[in-house]
Amino acid sequence: MRGVILAGGTGSRLHPLTRITNKHLLPIYDRPMISYAIEALVGSGVGEIMLVTGGTHAGEFLRLLGNGNEFGIDRLFYAYQEKAGGIAEALGLAEKFVAGDRCVVMLADNLFERSIRPCVEAFEKQERGARVVLSKESEPEHLRHLGVAQFDGNRKIERIIEKPAIPPSDYAVTGVYFYDHTVWKVLPELQPSGRGELEITDVNNWYLEHGLMEYDVLDGYWGDAGESIQAYYAVHDFVRAHGANRNV
Ligand code: DAU
Repeated sequence: MRGVILAGGTGSRLHPLTRITNKHLLPIYDRPMISYAIEALVGSGVGEIMLVTGGTHAGEFLRLLGNGNEFGIDRLFYAYQEKAGGIAEALGLAEKFVAGDRCVVMLADNLFERSIRPCVEAFEKQERGARVVLSKESEPEHLRHLGVAQFDGNRKIERIIEKPAIPPSDYAVTGVYFYDHTVWKVLPELQPSGRGELEITDVNNWYLEHGLMEYDVLDGYWGDAGESIQAYYAVHDFVRAHGANRNV
């Protein structure tokens, strides 16, 4: 399975910090944010990774990561996203890298307390389709900034609602996604959303509509450090106190 880490976008919710650097280079405790996403993939046995980024600070990723070997990556590839056209657009740049393989996609502003290895292993056993990872969140205000799962009576996900005014459940869709080769047929069919972006939620809803989506529910803490300055510091404080990507 190949890994794709998405580290583009404008980071506008963390302005003015993100005027001077890329969001994913900001510190979380003692390391740049991006290193946690790398650790999550490498610690799950994913050694071939493409990093997609953009903007004026893209070169700094090369300075930090080099060929990736110091971070445990076997082979590191880079792609440049010309404008922040959305998560699904950024993923499209990895098509030739993933080629006929399957992929795990990680948003580089997501941090996990525990290793995502069990999810990677579950997808390896899954015959086809896609997989998302949910996290139970208690605050509706938080859920309104995320993708949220809507379930049917059998606890199957019916649909994912992006940034819902009224969250249909307490289960947020985290920024780790698994796809088979079908994703490359879905991406060109997408239309830009109201915010002018190609949405990963539309990709996931395509798989749901075709009965090809499975999911895991996370144990442990999950945070999206790009959601707001408060979320950035909440993630920072959590990682400082408890660490991240732990194998327990
Ligand atoms: O964090 C989980 C949430 O991430 C999900 O619950 C939502 O369903 C999903 O849409 C996404 O929402 P966000 O509003 O948090 O996405 P954001 O625009 O912050 O982008 C997340 C990461 O994706 C960002 O850290 C870098 C990457 N990205 C984003 C855009 C818009 C790119 O690489 N290129 C882009 O053009």
